[in-house]
Amino acid sequence: MSNYKIHEDIAAALSSYQLPVKLPFGLAPGPIMYSVEYVDGKWGDGLLEANKPLSLQPSAKVLHYGQEIFEGMKAYRVNQQRATLFRPERNWARFNQSAQRMAMPKIPEELFMEGVNLVTAYSETIIPEKSGESLYLRPFMFASETNLGVSGGNQFTYMVISSPSEAMHPGTMKVLIERDFTRAALGGTGGAKTGGNYASSFASRQHAQSMGFDQSLWLDPRDQKNIEELSVMNFFAVINGELHTPRLTGSLLDGVTRDSILSLAELMGVQIHQRAINIDELIAQIQSGECSEVFCCGTGAIISPISTLGEYDGTRYQLVKSNGDLSLRLRESLLGIQESRLEDSFGWLRTIPDACYPS
Ligand code: COI
Repeated sequence: MSNYKIHEDIAAALSSYQLPVKLPFGLAPGPIMYSVEYVDGKWGDGLLEANKPLSLQPSAKVLHYGQEIFEGMKAYRVNQQRATLFRPERNWARFNQSAQRMAMPKIPEELFMEGVNLVTAYSETIIPEKSGESLYLRPFMFASETNLGVSGGNQFTYMVISSPSEAMHPGTMKVLIERDFTRAALGGTGGAKTGGNYASSFASRQHAQSMGFDQSLWLDPRDQKNIEELSVMNFFAVINGELHTPRLTGSLLDGVTRDSILSLAELMGVQIHQRAINIDELIAQIQSGECSEVFCCGTGAIISPISTLGEYDGTRYQLVKSNGDLSLRLRESLLGIQESRLEDSFGWLRTIPDACYPS
């Protein structure tokens, strides 16, 4: 841990905070934030303070070259007084993989967790207690160095903000197969959680939404034949009772929820396959009934069943059931562990150290 400071303005920020009645994903900002600076090869001391605008020079590198990475995590307080986190060490490890790809400094686990733990501990009483809701945590890092030199830079800011939220896509989803654009190049940054991957997906998503869909489904960048992911979620299909998901190729994200689902499915005795999933074969299997469910998953979304896959020309492929059995069972197992209703047989939950709570 650093010699962090707690700003006196957080007491008022927390005591005046009203948890909104409705919590659409990511819309309500949490009241406090954590930040720490990295300058010339050294991390400084953290600061926990009231949420407020940042002061950045217009030449900050992040504003020009998009040097930024982030993580998505949740703190849960359903069925319990004390907050818990879910597999935060995986988020830390992925954060550092993203940092390496984006020429940013790695952050020690203690410092990454200092921000996450302090924001969670001080916000504990405003963590929603309804099933499916949580405090969404957003650790992120950006290049704060102020010059237009086109290079990796030497000054970075790591921050943690939060948003009390319900799941990102409650209910079933309709997904448009994106056959024109691709999300990430081979050897590109698709496996890193960096802002540009998301910004470059928005045009496709807007197009999908204009056609009545929720999200776009990306195909592989080389042949546009194999399924990759949905920008904000990983993809699964249930074919003849077995669970299939695209194998990690480097151009799609190694999701924490994806990994957890694979472990849970294995525990349930479901056969799992990580492989190239050809979109046209999958469509044929949906039409023949061999593929009974498709669903997507992510920290924000948990698990969302997909009811419809669609093409640009208006063709729609309807899943037999809009709410599949296996996706519902997996969602309940995962959420049951996260919300402390079911035994945490994998040892995934972490409590916040006592030292991080206000004294
Ligand atoms: C998440 O599920 O946490 C994500 O990172 C997706 C998104 C909200 C950008």
